[in-house]
Amino acid sequence: MVISRRGSGSLTLPSGQTLTTHTRTQDEEDLPHATKRTMADHLRKYDTLFTLTPQRMRMIVEAFKDTLELGLEKSEQIVPMIPTFVFGWPTGEEKGDYLAVDLGGTNLRVCLVTVQGDGKFEITQSKYRLTEEQKHGDGQKLFDFCAECLKTFIDTSLADSDGAATLKDGKKLPLGFTFSYPCTQDRIDQGILIRWTKGFGATDTEGQDVAAMFRNSLEKYQLPVELTALINDTTGTLIASNYVNPQTRIACIFGTGCNAAYMEHVKDIPKITSLGIDESAEMAINCEWGAFDSFEHEHLPRTKYDITVDETSNKPGEQAFEKLISGRYLGEILRLVICELIDEGVLFLGQNTYKLENPYVFDTAFLSLMESDPTDELLMIIGIFTHFFAVETTLAERQFFRALAKLIGRRAARLSACGIAAIVGKMGYLDEGCSVGADGSLYNKYPGFADRIHEGLVDIFGERGRKIITHHAEDGSGVGSAIIAAMTKKRKDAGLYVSL
Ligand code: GLC
Repeated sequence: MVISRRGSGSLTLPSGQTLTTHTRTQDEEDLPHATKRTMADHLRKYDTLFTLTPQRMRMIVEAFKDTLELGLEKSEQIVPMIPTFVFGWPTGEEKGDYLAVDLGGTNLRVCLVTVQGDGKFEITQSKYRLTEEQKHGDGQKLFDFCAECLKTFIDTSLADSDGAATLKDGKKLPLGFTFSYPCTQDRIDQGILIRWTKGFGATDTEGQDVAAMFRNSLEKYQLPVELTALINDTTGTLIASNYVNPQTRIACIFGTGCNAAYMEHVKDIPKITSLGIDESAEMAINCEWGAFDSFEHEHLPRTKYDITVDETSNKPGEQAFEKLISGRYLGEILRLVICELIDEGVLFLGQNTYKLENPYVFDTAFLSLMESDPTDELLMIIGIFTHFFAVETTLAERQFFRALAKLIGRRAARLSACGIAAIVGKMGYLDEGCSVGADGSLYNKYPGFADRIHEGLVDIFGERGRKIITHHAEDGSGVGSAIIAAMTKKRKDAGLYVSL
């Protein structure tokens, strides 16, 4: 994207829309705007509210570690620390063709993954947009839609040039289902949905075995597949990242939601002792850390804007940590601050601000764009406010919005560092250092997000924190799911915990 420092320009937003930007000069004086001084005063207030000191971060890390331990010890804890039945790391030599269906947020994705061994793979995929109606309608219909998309994909991608299916009669392809919501599992190909997160709310699904529901849909469409593994995106990311970079010990998603997975010693998961798994074995744990500090709200510094986000969400009280970090909420937090300043008569006096008053209209992508605006006049920010919200801004206001985005984005990254530090501390990874595979729109697109996590880790651990390094992860939901399907097949063929 090239933007000239003066005059007009245009850019394409992640949504595909084109945004025209203009430099304005005299008209800034036409409306009653807040002065530079007023904006600086307000900024100081928000700076105090949104800044996390190193000391506060270390307190959060301690509480976080206790919470992780508790989740491993007992069932039905707020942070559920879900055993995934993914045993140990991949060897790197896994091979084969696997289908993957990925239901996790904005889109539904269907992939065919060819795992080639040696850390290599090939992937063919199609994406389908989910409607709000599908996210909130009947749960079985949502899974039917997944099956329908899979059918279209198989009919097109697995057909040879004259359209005939390439699968031999009776042969079934193994299918990994990446379902990125908290599910309690008794074995790898089953999972009871604890609760929907990330704004989903399809009915008759919470408390149900989602793998069984999806199998029903697969049968309806008579698909030549066998659902062999139900996985979370973090678990997939953990395995896929380790497959290509064996230093990886932890995986995080910073996208619409926020969560982490890591590999735990079975002997340190007291709540599954009765399964009789070899104590020297290892198993991946899906932490579901987005739920940290839910309901009680004892540890995280929530502002009144965070409380409003929570109370007006479809799941008040839940996902307290995620609501301070993930892409679904950051734009909304900033919007609420702006609305407060509008109500106080500080911003946009005399202008019609109704477009800013709708919940969730301020996309988190706007924060990324505001922070990366390279122009002196902040042309990008002019563009966002005029094009999407039909309001005029002064330079002082734009500088304020950019600074505010920075505070909110920085707090999210520093809190993320607290979660990573809790796992690192608990597992004793600090001396050796470790690699953290990270994925999701915030991590991949928000400028400086990774650097701020790394700064946060140094604030928590001192110089030793530099040994914990995040890197862009491999596609966990597709490739990870395929490798897990391959690992599971190998384990079961070897007669190891075949019923798990
Ligand atoms: C939410 C989900 C979790 C998922 C994360 C990232 O936190 O509950 O399962 O891993 O979002 O997609």
